[in-house]
Amino acid sequence: MSDNASVVFRTAFGVAPRVVASAPGRVNLIGEHTDYNGGPVLPVATAARTSVAVGPADDGVLELISTLDGQLARIDWRDGRPAGWNAYLAGVMRELDAAGAAPTGAGARVAVASGVPVGAGLASSAALTVAAAKALSLLASVRLNPRQLAGVAFRAEHDYVGVRCGMMDQMCAALARPGQALLLECASLAARHIPIRARLLLVDTGTRHALTAGALNERRAECEAAVARLKLELPELAWLASWPARWLPRLKRALPEPLRSRALHVVGETARTRFGAQLLARGRVRRFGGLLYESHESCRRLYQCSSAELDLVVDVARRAGALGARLTGAGWGGAVLVLLGKGDGGRGKGEAKVAREIRRAFTAAYGREPSITAVRPSGGARGKRSR
Ligand code: GLA
Repeated sequence: MSDNASVVFRTAFGVAPRVVASAPGRVNLIGEHTDYNGGPVLPVATAARTSVAVGPADDGVLELISTLDGQLARIDWRDGRPAGWNAYLAGVMRELDAAGAAPTGAGARVAVASGVPVGAGLASSAALTVAAAKALSLLASVRLNPRQLAGVAFRAEHDYVGVRCGMMDQMCAALARPGQALLLECASLAARHIPIRARLLLVDTGTRHALTAGALNERRAECEAAVARLKLELPELAWLASWPARWLPRLKRALPEPLRSRALHVVGETARTRFGAQLLARGRVRRFGGLLYESHESCRRLYQCSSAELDLVVDVARRAGALGARLTGAGWGGAVLVLLGKGDGGRGKGEAKVAREIRRAFTAAYGREPSITAVRPSGGARGKRSR
């Protein structure tokens, strides 16, 4: 992948890039819509990465080319907000500039080669912003640590582009380790790496969502409204995820629908994720898988972020004997994660059967095949200066 961005850079600008960096997409094992509520998440980084090659340019000017749209753009990032994916790069440059970590003159030539599918719930935007933050800061000869990179990328997307996401995607793209899941507590940003002793399949339904358009922002506003009301019960409540799980009857009484359902999801998902991380750490994969099914059901019924295609894949996976399955990422389309044991449910017959049955049922219902790939938990951002 890194080489692809270099090739795009050379072709567009006629010189070699100074720095090439890359960052992965992510698949969340459990902990959906908990990050912006101060709860835990448990993502893994994908082998699919986005790479960014950069070199110097005129003061304040970003010259951009990407395999995302093939268009060469020249923007003055200080002068208004550009459209589309260019906004993410302008946001990164603005944040680096504010932190004193932007290249001289805060201009750059940037080539992007994206290997992470866009809108599939695999955090393609965080792969882009984290890789860009890494490449542009190295161009400025500044070494940001993984948390600093994640912070720059998060503020670019959240404050500048205006997607009211949490920090799961950026932290995973920056901190992930091969073969391990990242347990991240989003209120404190405490992180722990947990080895995965299971096989994971990703079933992309091919249906896409556009996050900035609203659903995620709407859910976040509902969660904030729930916290505002729950503060009458518990004045020190800072995050929805901090509501005590033993006080569910009180929560139900205090909240009208749909706030009640949203809050029940967040509080339940928080408990499931912490318990799930313990199970995974102890190698209790079967029990962990059961929590994935519960999480999907909660996303479907309470958070209402599933879709007919996602539900079908989860149902078929369960009937075919998978240990667990659930939508992964924001939802409203995108992909399903399927968990298989390493033994008989693993690489052999079990996995082939699950994949075959999902393919068959999905094709019968929608007249097209879903893409089914194995997930290889990978490492976070990396980058190199060439001269
Ligand atoms: C999107 C956001 C993440 C997270 C998930 C839902 O991917 O970018 O921060 O909120 O949705 O878990």
